[in-house]
Amino acid sequence: MANAGHLHILIQRLSDSVFHDEVKVLMPKDTYYITTPIYYVNDVPHVGNAYTTIIADTVSRYHKLKCEKTYLLTGTDEHAVKVAAAAADKGIPTKDFVDHLAEQFKRVWASLDVHYDDFIRTTEPRHIQVVQAIFARLFEQGDIYKGEYQGWYCIPDETFLAESELVDGKCPECGRQVEWVQEENYYFKLSAYSDRLLEYIESHPGFLQPEFRKNEVVSFIKQGLRDVSITRDNKGWGITVPGDDSKVIYVWFDALINYISAIGYLSDEERFNSLWPADLQLMGKDIFVRFHCTFWPAMLMALGLEQPKVLFGHGWWSINGEKISKSRGNAISPAKLAEDLAEESGASRDVCLDAVRYFLAREVTFGVDGDFSIASFKNRFNSDLANDLGNLLNRTLSMLNKYFDGIIPGPKGLSGGLAQVIAGSAKTAQETCDKLEFTKALEAVWQMIGAGNKYVNDQKPWELEKQGKTDELAGVLYSALEVARAAAIMISPFMPATAVEIARQLGIADSFAGLKWSDITAANPFVPGTKTQGPDPIFPRLGTKKKEAKVVEEPKPAEAPQPEKTEEYISYDYFSKLKIRIAEIKSAERVEKADKLLRLQVSLGDEERQIVAGIAKSYEPEALIGRKIVMLTNLEPAKIRGVVSNGMLLAADGADGGAVLLQPEADVPAGTKIK
Ligand code: MSP
Repeated sequence: MANAGHLHILIQRLSDSVFHDEVKVLMPKDTYYITTPIYYVNDVPHVGNAYTTIIADTVSRYHKLKCEKTYLLTGTDEHAVKVAAAAADKGIPTKDFVDHLAEQFKRVWASLDVHYDDFIRTTEPRHIQVVQAIFARLFEQGDIYKGEYQGWYCIPDETFLAESELVDGKCPECGRQVEWVQEENYYFKLSAYSDRLLEYIESHPGFLQPEFRKNEVVSFIKQGLRDVSITRDNKGWGITVPGDDSKVIYVWFDALINYISAIGYLSDEERFNSLWPADLQLMGKDIFVRFHCTFWPAMLMALGLEQPKVLFGHGWWSINGEKISKSRGNAISPAKLAEDLAEESGASRDVCLDAVRYFLAREVTFGVDGDFSIASFKNRFNSDLANDLGNLLNRTLSMLNKYFDGIIPGPKGLSGGLAQVIAGSAKTAQETCDKLEFTKALEAVWQMIGAGNKYVNDQKPWELEKQGKTDELAGVLYSALEVARAAAIMISPFMPATAVEIARQLGIADSFAGLKWSDITAANPFVPGTKTQGPDPIFPRLGTKKKEAKVVEEPKPAEAPQPEKTEEYISYDYFSKLKIRIAEIKSAERVEKADKLLRLQVSLGDEERQIVAGIAKSYEPEALIGRKIVMLTNLEPAKIRGVVSNGMLLAADGADGGAVLLQPEADVPAGTKIK
């Protein structure tokens, strides 16, 4: 251990170099700053812990839509004992292990359409420096002192525990074994902050949310706070105590600091001031009371920094009534749920991911526990998404095609009181989103969608057409289109890909990205003459796997006209999006337990791909090697019977129900385009 003089000099140097105590001209805070917890990198997120980040992304998108500058921070918590243990288990150097997992986390967030502004890793120098400087400063000012720690430590929860806190000798939080720790350690004087914390909480309603969790915090503090041991013996992993290499800093002291190290604390004052205090810090209930509502605010008090505006502790998800756990095999990722749903429904993977995002926000009040039951998920998919939202869009676009060649008439203005309905829904959705009441916000949007569907039912456009009331007919369809457009804007923070797809079908794809929340109620928002696309049903009802262009018009009474059977045309533009090329089969093998499927490795000249093709009944794998085939290359990758297929082989339907491969008449190289 370093001697006291040496430690003092080091601390002095670090502290002097990074703390600016004099008051400078401060730039005002101008950005809505949201944080998620940073994730332990011992595994990739499942639907439960991805929840925090998906909601954070939704909140960020919502504020952007309101034209606010927003900043969403997420990242990885890499110095935990369990992270080092997981690496050791795999026999991988810890740094390589965390580097790999941090990249995987980034990929997972991208695959969940999460747009963060910064991703902080606690192993980055920009973070380590700030943690050490803060340690030095708090040591110097007496908030950190040295003492002997004797007590228990829960490795899975990374928590120091007193004997009195154990339940049956185990961790009160997770119920697992604890280890005895006896070390000379540094302590943070948490006990000195009890009164100030209570006072702050009481005088700032809304600081800790939801209210019932705030009460838990208050009783936790009132039970009496003990000082926290904030170092461990250095076993080769963690941020070392400045001037004392024999110790590493406790992972929670280290991790909480990410919220300020990432935004320029002690390195970029201007940036820091434009963001801090955070507007919303989100986390699950397990890390709310002790860490985020006690330890963290006390650390901020010790540093003389403002408190975040809101600390929100949400509930936990179970799956089909069971706690999510790896050993139960139900630690399923939202991406996997989306892929399974896509396979079952025929809807696109992005839309299915949106359905997961929608379910998480819609199913339970934000703050309380929820159950991700597959049955209720499918139920919502069919009722809210396919029947309500999908139906409004499909039927309206279909009738517009039929009666007006798909061209938006207008300007028409809104009839049937729908202007008020849209305005009312926008107002309620905004008020409730501002309060993080997402279930209520989505309910308001669905009330509007319901009103749009009811309006179409009541107006019976097919009768107006029969009666030759063209102008009225145009007005009705126009009004329904406006409801669909308003819905697209309002759902965009929750279901970004779906909103864009609705906009595409409405013919407003180009302007959609620039729309603001206030545009929900814009008068005559459609440019007359706009050509709509589709309908291309976004949410095929589960149980009707084929994605038919099924028009859900009315439950037809005898007098309702039957929709004419017309050929469905697509534009050249649409066709040109299909990338079809010649591929050469390099290897082929049967897919286990799937008697129709072959797994093919194919060459496209400049790249190799794996595809799964349903041709096993018609072709022996060996006979295919070297053969040229026709392949759709930009079909989104899908898992078929657990095997990733990255493209689709095109074949003709054979007379015997089998497949007949297509082959170029003359030999052309693999990769050749087909148009
Ligand atoms: N590394 C700490 C956080 C440090 S923040 C300075 C941590 N990481 S974690 O990976 O274990 O958890 C991340 C988040 O996932 C937490 O907010 C936790 O509450 C949340 N969840 C974990 N399982 C969950 C469910 N089953 N349901 C909902 N949220 C869940 O804690």
